[in-house]
Amino acid sequence: MGSKADLIVGLQWGDEGKGKIVDHMAQSYDYVCRFAGGHNAGHTIVIDGRKYALHLIPSGVLNLKAKNIVGNGVVLSPKDFIKEMMQFDDLEGRLFLSDKAHVLLPYHAHIDQAREQMKGDKAIGTTGKGIGPAYGDKVARHGHRLGEILDPEKLTEKIVEYFALNKPLFNAMGVAAPEKEVLLAEIQSYKEVLGKYITDTTQMMWHILDEGKTILLEGAQGTMLDIDHGTYPYVTSSSTVSAGACIGLGINPKDIGKVTGIAKAYCTRVGNGPFPSEDKGQEGDLLRKNGHEFGTTTGRPRRCGWFDAVAMRHAVRINGVDQVALMKLDVLDGLKEVKVCVAYEVDGKEIHYVPYDLEDVKPLYRSFPGWEKTEGIRVFDDLPDTAKSYIEALEEMIGTEVGIISTSPEREDTIIR
Ligand code: GDP
Ligand code: IMO
Ligand code: MG
Repeated sequence: MGSKADLIVGLQWGDEGKGKIVDHMAQSYDYVCRFAGGHNAGHTIVIDGRKYALHLIPSGVLNLKAKNIVGNGVVLSPKDFIKEMMQFDDLEGRLFLSDKAHVLLPYHAHIDQAREQMKGDKAIGTTGKGIGPAYGDKVARHGHRLGEILDPEKLTEKIVEYFALNKPLFNAMGVAAPEKEVLLAEIQSYKEVLGKYITDTTQMMWHILDEGKTILLEGAQGTMLDIDHGTYPYVTSSSTVSAGACIGLGINPKDIGKVTGIAKAYCTRVGNGPFPSEDKGQEGDLLRKNGHEFGTTTGRPRRCGWFDAVAMRHAVRINGVDQVALMKLDVLDGLKEVKVCVAYEVDGKEIHYVPYDLEDVKPLYRSFPGWEKTEGIRVFDDLPDTAKSYIEALEEMIGTEVGIISTSPEREDTIIR
């Protein structure tokens, strides 16, 4: 009997708390798989007060019984990946890297940073890790796949040739060509460490599905950062929505089981671009302070605001969400009033969907009474009545059940309804 793969996906602009829920759920899965993004992601997991920051290694790694797959849809920086691997000393036999994942090299980060600088105040506010240029090379068909690092001489030749062909472009950006000998040594060192983990993960996915293994697919970033369905061009360069899991792992839509969408009880965004329910005042500052809203990957302060039910309905539909995990409810503790964006106003007209451009929409809010304390609560019935009413109103607005509620960063401070 075959199985289906369950999926975790971010419903806002990233940093919703995916890492905590993947780790929590990974306790009962055989495999955890990443399908998109790169080390732009930062997934934080807290176990017994100890904090782990994961970027590309699937968040199942903290469960010794789970095996971890990094699919073809990701861009992988060998240098950063190896650094991340050093946190763990027992990865052999439980980490598998797709030979078709694309390689992100230091020059991609240089190009990313140079482009952002050239854009000035129109910059996207990327993580500067080289994600856009690496995916750009993939789509333009001059990228390099991870399998190629198994032949360092050949890959070095190709990269040197690529730089020679594009010399004027790189000169204009101030990006230096890598030196051949240095590059070769670098790729050889990558092969030495990563070689034994590289495999055909597509065949592996089919095999474990056929065997009936339990599989969890871990999304990165969030729906509003999706290259097609987010706030383009202020997005990342991959398909972050649930459909991206099929492309990024070589499985088909019928292989997908239950979809859990992760959302904060409020909203944040890091980087530039439209954010209709942003609160630039004192309450936004308070959310940032109480929620420790500073990026895991770049340390940047996150922009904060209110739960956006319009964008959430968009995300629920696109991802086929079966249940929502509502995160960081405790961050709203102590507020007199909690706001929710229930509609947008565009050119004096009220709309209830996400339009082509979110730049000039005005949020229309509904207010809810606040509550004293939810922090650490593990049973739904123990929540204050006003918090329960808030959650039930959100369910009504987004048309999906809130099956999981998180009340602190700790693995166990989680309500399963
Ligand atoms: P991800 O990128 O979606 O995995 O989320 P991040 O790890 O970047 O950001 C979420 C942050 O919120 C992390 O620092 C988590 O430890 C923290 N966190 C997760 N759930 C909760 C919660 O319910 N309450 C509080 N206060 N913090 C949480
Ligand atoms: P996780 O998985 C939040 C944002 C960047 C920027 C835009 C493009 O932790 O939720 P990029 O470097 O990808 O080209 O940047 O996307 N971004 C994220 N924001 N969480 C993330 O990942 C993000 N990954 C990228 O801030 O606005
Ligand atoms: Mg994050």
